[in-house]
Amino acid sequence: MSQKCKTAYITTPIYYVNDVPHIGHAYTTIIADTLARYSRLIGMETLFLTGTDEHGQKIQEAAEKRGKQPQEYADEISAKFRDLWDYFDISYDKFIRTTDEKHIKGVQKAFEVMYEKGDIYKDNYEGFYCVSCETFFTKTQLVDNEFCPDCGKPTTIVKEESYFFRLSKYEERLLEWYADKEKCVLPKAKKNEVINFVKQGLHDLSITRTSFDWGVKLPASLNDPKHVMYVWLDALMNYITALGYGTDEKEMYFWPATVHLVGKDILRFHAIYWPAFLMSLGLELPKHIGAHGWWTRNGEKMSKSKGNVVDPREVADAYGLENFRYFMLREVPFGQDGDFSQKALIDRINSDLSNDLGNLLNRIIGMSGKYNDFVISSENVMKFHRQEIEATDAIIEKLPAYIYDLQLNRYLEELWKVLTIANQAIATHEPWVKIKEGKKEEAMALVALVANLLAKVSVMLSPVMPKTCQTISEALGFVIDTQNYEKLILDKALLETFTIQKVPPLFPKIEEELLKSEPPRVEKESPKKEKPKEEDGLITIDQFFQTKLKIGTILEAEEVPKSDRLLKLKVDLGEETPRQIIAGIKEYYKPEELVGTQVCVVANLKPAKIMGHLSQCMLLAAKDKNGLSLMRPESPKESGTPVG
Ligand code: MSP
Repeated sequence: MSQKCKTAYITTPIYYVNDVPHIGHAYTTIIADTLARYSRLIGMETLFLTGTDEHGQKIQEAAEKRGKQPQEYADEISAKFRDLWDYFDISYDKFIRTTDEKHIKGVQKAFEVMYEKGDIYKDNYEGFYCVSCETFFTKTQLVDNEFCPDCGKPTTIVKEESYFFRLSKYEERLLEWYADKEKCVLPKAKKNEVINFVKQGLHDLSITRTSFDWGVKLPASLNDPKHVMYVWLDALMNYITALGYGTDEKEMYFWPATVHLVGKDILRFHAIYWPAFLMSLGLELPKHIGAHGWWTRNGEKMSKSKGNVVDPREVADAYGLENFRYFMLREVPFGQDGDFSQKALIDRINSDLSNDLGNLLNRIIGMSGKYNDFVISSENVMKFHRQEIEATDAIIEKLPAYIYDLQLNRYLEELWKVLTIANQAIATHEPWVKIKEGKKEEAMALVALVANLLAKVSVMLSPVMPKTCQTISEALGFVIDTQNYEKLILDKALLETFTIQKVPPLFPKIEEELLKSEPPRVEKESPKKEKPKEEDGLITIDQFFQTKLKIGTILEAEEVPKSDRLLKLKVDLGEETPRQIIAGIKEYYKPEELVGTQVCVVANLKPAKIMGHLSQCMLLAAKDKNGLSLMRPESPKESGTPVG
């Protein structure tokens, strides 16, 4: 993204259309939007691509479940993504769908090129497949010989004829690439994970499926109509088919991508498969692949079954879209997981945005109006405030480096140091005292200093908060564009004069939590709140309801090998897939007498491994000198019925 190269090509993952958009999708897209806006600001010809990933077994099954044709279903959900990005004012230049004719032709062309190169061969695949992750696994990679190591869902056995891509052939070249290009995968910790994975050895990759047909057909030249392409091969190619690869090639000059933004869960596909495919196609490799962390809610993983998925539209409506953007980028270091809580969001709005940024503008409006009829001249700034200008220039000079490293939280942190200097300058120089002492020239030099600092901040903040910064720039009487970026940021110049316009406060303070769908929060200990006294051991009703108790039906039960105590159970809690529980009840129950009976379980315990087996919740039981009894409903209840 350096200015030396005049084009910038920024991409998001293309989103699966099996579900509606959530906060995770919004996060990737907002980071990408910020990078795209930044690239345009600094004068680069920018192409920002997003879109939807519409083929594959997962989508076919999701459509079937709803009694729809896959295309009809994909049209519906794809439109929801597009609508959300439009509502969010995402500045994408292209929205690709993998069902687009042009994309399909491009993928077929790529397959042909790799085939002709000898990188694709036909064989039989035998292994395991996670439909939810659309990923192949070997038995040794599974948890308990059955579950997906990434998402924990059960895998299925796949045994079918398949074309393979010679991934193993590219092992060395991939390792060389990681070694040569320090920042090809960011952040560094994630890059190291990728390197370690590749060093363990790469197997050739199955790239076609025959057991369903919702996918791109192989090129006609192969004359093998029963195969469709593996959805990840199809999907990854979107980054070049969107530029016309294999069709008109019109925008291939944007290649290689400047940044592919992805979540950590899909880094392996992007940092291993994708560069290997590109090597096979003889194309350049992307400059950066950036993997961000995941968002949890109040400390818990988001999932539909827990009902704690954050709807980005609801948050934006309640708190303001740009406040939400700022929060997401500022709150979490890139690459790390972050927690969404309304409290954290409100704190950011009230403190960073309202106190530090909004108040500064109010003070400039107030002081300039009172002291000089809303007109500010910068003529005496360097005479009285050279030191503050030099200190802030030194901070601003370093900002681009944070963008290149995708450290947007550091970028914002540094930018806020400029606001701190501006706010401190007002407190230190007390212009109202200077005015009383008749030193108007000095007072107005201070006002001009802070106006210039705010102008510079608004230029650099505009990729994150475009509309807010436009309001600031209108209030200060200048325009945020490439010319002013060059003047204020690159040339470190000041704006000669300002004619200030009054605007309403940018960030009214928020006192209460506004989301209707907020699940009960697990309160952190707070010194102000009275803790239950240890002597009486009492808890509040809210504390009790933090534990989710549910009725479950035991579907399967078996002994855990080599354990005297443990049984492994599959329990239906009314969710998509049964939960696995490892329970220490072998002395008291035989597996066969448990199957079909009901139990009471703690459904929101953190999963744990017991003797190497995943346990996803806990059974309730009472034990005295006469033995142990499981807690059960008096009469049968539907699986998943809450207890409480
Ligand atoms: N279709 C593939 C991507 C193909 S790209 C050639 C896919 N789609 S997805 O819809 O499942 O996920 C898209 C992105 O959302 C991923 O980058 C994933 O990391 C991100 N997120 C999904 N849940 C998330 C959170 N809870 N938090 C942050 N991002 C997460 O994968």
